[in-house]
Amino acid sequence: MTTPFWVAGKPVSGAETVTIRSPYDGAEAGRHAVPSTSDIESAVAAADAVRHEAATLPAHVRAGALDHVSRVLAERAEEFAALITAESGKPLKWARAEAGRAASTFRWAAEEARRFSGELQRLDTDPGSTGRLALVRRVPRGPVLGITPFNFPLNLVAHKVAPALAVGAPIVLKPAPATPLTALGLGEVLAETDLPEGTWSILPVGNEQSAALVTDPRLPVVSFTGSVPVGWGIRDAAPRKHVTLELGGNAAVVVCPDWTDLDYAAERIATFAMYQGGQSCVSVQRVYAHRDVATELTERVIEKVRALGTGDPRSAATDVGPLINTAAAERVESWVSGAVAAGARCPVSGQRDGATVAPTVLTDVPEDTQVMADEVFGPVVAINTVDSVDEAFRHVNASRFGLQAGVFTRDLPTAFAASARLEVGGVVIGDVPSFRADQMPYGGVKDSGVGREGPASAMADLTEERITVLTGVRL
Ligand code: SIN
Repeated sequence: MTTPFWVAGKPVSGAETVTIRSPYDGAEAGRHAVPSTSDIESAVAAADAVRHEAATLPAHVRAGALDHVSRVLAERAEEFAALITAESGKPLKWARAEAGRAASTFRWAAEEARRFSGELQRLDTDPGSTGRLALVRRVPRGPVLGITPFNFPLNLVAHKVAPALAVGAPIVLKPAPATPLTALGLGEVLAETDLPEGTWSILPVGNEQSAALVTDPRLPVVSFTGSVPVGWGIRDAAPRKHVTLELGGNAAVVVCPDWTDLDYAAERIATFAMYQGGQSCVSVQRVYAHRDVATELTERVIEKVRALGTGDPRSAATDVGPLINTAAAERVESWVSGAVAAGARCPVSGQRDGATVAPTVLTDVPEDTQVMADEVFGPVVAINTVDSVDEAFRHVNASRFGLQAGVFTRDLPTAFAASARLEVGGVVIGDVPSFRADQMPYGGVKDSGVGREGPASAMADLTEERITVLTGVRL
């Protein structure tokens, strides 16, 4: 069966189709119809036409629709998880976690839609404004172009769609070409709601078709999650638009000398360096361990990494599956070889087989190698020893990225120093940087992007303040 795409909330079967295959073994995950130029035009025109109606939809209609999606995602979580695994190769256990998170993202957006009210500002603070009061509301900036990556085919789509619908902004979504089936499946659930026609469209088009959408003036907001060069290229191509960028990172962990539960730290580092093949912007890539704990921590990380289950992502026992394609795996393999050639040690050496790279641990890695300085997006962790927490913080900050960092400490002044000094969007104390609750403000600084997601933060980002001044008011 060919999966339709969605234009203005309606399923459309195009003339052409594309087959999506598992990166693990090439098994067919599904087949979808491909939008034509005129389908794309219809979707954008419908978003533009409905924007006033969408912006004035009652909160209960928006929240009700979002609640419906949340409920159905929870009910059909197994089905969505299986589809995520089939098209992306994400191990089933992580796909299940993602499906649960997407239900939570929609639930949070529903709750925030009910709360989203604005504020009053008194103006009678000077004689000329006596009897005046401002209502400060937030109104949608306009229809949104959402562009999403392959690594969370459902939940990162949810982080674009749910806040847009929560504020009453129409959205045209372009899912990643490698993993569009899950987003198209979400379309089925959105189509069960009462949202007005044109409020949402899902267009599985190629990356080369993004350029026209990015510069289309009818889509004044672009919310992009994906690679660094593409993200900043969008900002350069559309300087007058409101652009939100959730880009990459080379997330670091600092293990401080006061941290005694090294087994826990090692378990978390091993798991979240390798989860979904390291294909998360906040997977653990760099570890700075204080000399007092470094030897024991490294031994335990190695032991935990060796224990991870690898292989078929459809098996619930698999921890680490394939990367998204063979080219990605070849790149990771070459970066690991580059680090070893530069002097790094490689106590757990991942072999590549097609798109799969086995989990890899590096130690004593020169800071200027690609596995330290760039985003690996693969199952590779680098552990370096430092002589002080200060030195570790300097290394964390000596990166062009700044998404999240984790600091294993129980010392309150160290935790506050991390929060104050680390140049990142989020600091996690007592855990890895990979922790994300979907309601948190999430996003980066430096090359990692601009703007924050998480339903409440994204709703603020997708709207702008509009004031109404009331006169003759007795306060
Ligand atoms: C990302 O890869 O940026 C998303 C991470 C997450 O949502 O857990």
